[in-house]
Amino acid sequence: METDTTKHYRKSLIGNYATPAITLVRGEGSYVWDESGKRYLDMASGIAVNALGHAHPHWVARISAQAGQMGHCSNLYAIRPQYELAEKLCNYAPGGKWLFCNSGTEANEALIKLARLYGVRKSGVEGKCYKVVTAENGFHGRTFGGMSATPQLKIQKGFAPLVPGFPTAKLNDLESFKSAIDTDTAAVLIETIQGEGGVNIASDDFLKDLRALCTERGVMLMLDEVQCGVGRTGKFYAFESSGIRPDAIAMAKGLGGGFPIGGVWVTDAFADLFTPGSHGTTFGGNPLACAAALAVLEVIEQDGILEKIKTQGPVFFNKLQVIAGKFPQLIKEVRGKGFMLGLAMEGDSAEWNKRFRDHGMLTASAGGNVIRLLPPLTADANELEHACSIIEETLSDQAAHS
Ligand SMILES: Cc1ncc(COP(=O)(O)O)c(C=O)c1O
Repeated sequence: METDTTKHYRKSLIGNYATPAITLVRGEGSYVWDESGKRYLDMASGIAVNALGHAHPHWVARISAQAGQMGHCSNLYAIRPQYELAEKLCNYAPGGKWLFCNSGTEANEALIKLARLYGVRKSGVEGKCYKVVTAENGFHGRTFGGMSATPQLKIQKGFAPLVPGFPTAKLNDLESFKSAIDTDTAAVLIETIQGEGGVNIASDDFLKDLRALCTERGVMLMLDEVQCGVGRTGKFYAFESSGIRPDAIAMAKGLGGGFPIGGVWVTDAFADLFTPGSHGTTFGGNPLACAAALAVLEVIEQDGILEKIKTQGPVFFNKLQVIAGKFPQLIKEVRGKGFMLGLAMEGDSAEWNKRFRDHGMLTASAGGNVIRLLPPLTADANELEHACSIIEETLSDQAAHS
């Protein structure tokens, strides 16, 4: 439905997004409201960003206090919240260091640059060992590096020539990675759980084998945890369930809980590849962004969020499976982990998104006709129950009409 706001939107903004159907004006916890006053249960969390839901008091207070003190100063000066954040994050993966940026694609861009630097160190020649093997259906962002690492025609079309050196292999197929890695390979970069590709999990066994393969071939193992990290699976990092240790990790989205921040963790063995002047950004790790991220980590820790997701995730999953069992003609599969779940739907996921929205719930569509359910990490049992009733209601309506 065309509203005043969407008219303005279409008039003044470049059309790189489809014109949104609704305008959200307010949020509180797991709910948001549009300009007409209609309330929605937010099971999209701004695409896995609103880790603490909306307007979490601690997050608001932390950002407000920092804004009142100093919002920005650049990396020409030491930023206390930046090293406090890095030190706190290092508790989840000791033995490494952090570099902050502003988004997921920038985090991957930093990892791709790191892979190139490693390639120079490994081969002793600039421009020889430069390849980064990625996985089919992966998504790593929209900058040239991120896009070139994203083997999807819909993302890359129109932008040739892309950055060279991104061969692809099949997720969960070690042989495929074995053949894709050659002497010119510097790194492997995959999502621990593919989000945009349709909630596809890299199995723990595959991750263990891939780790061993990368070590054997002298190739860095880089994990993109931009979407699945920051507690979403009930572990701080999704790869923790496999017991492996990657060489580098990309983070963003939920890290700032709605304030833009990205970052990469790099193990000590490779962190020294970046030297003064080799990489940088004006905004990366600025005081406001770091204060927001500290607020997210403090709430995750103080409220026992990881434990909560470990318990609630499987309950939610089982309820969804019961619903899927009632509508096998509409839901083909429920998959995912913790609070990163996917419903493989019969029919176009964009249409399903709309149907759920009409029934008062926001979801995120993904490849392979998958509807992603990405609740705020703070969502409680009643809100997950509410999501289940909206899903059941929407499916019943659809079943009655088809
Ligand atoms: C796994 C993954 N990597 C990278 C990105 C890109 O992040 P951003 O949109 O913040 O650049 C995304 C965004 O959806 C993502 O899901």
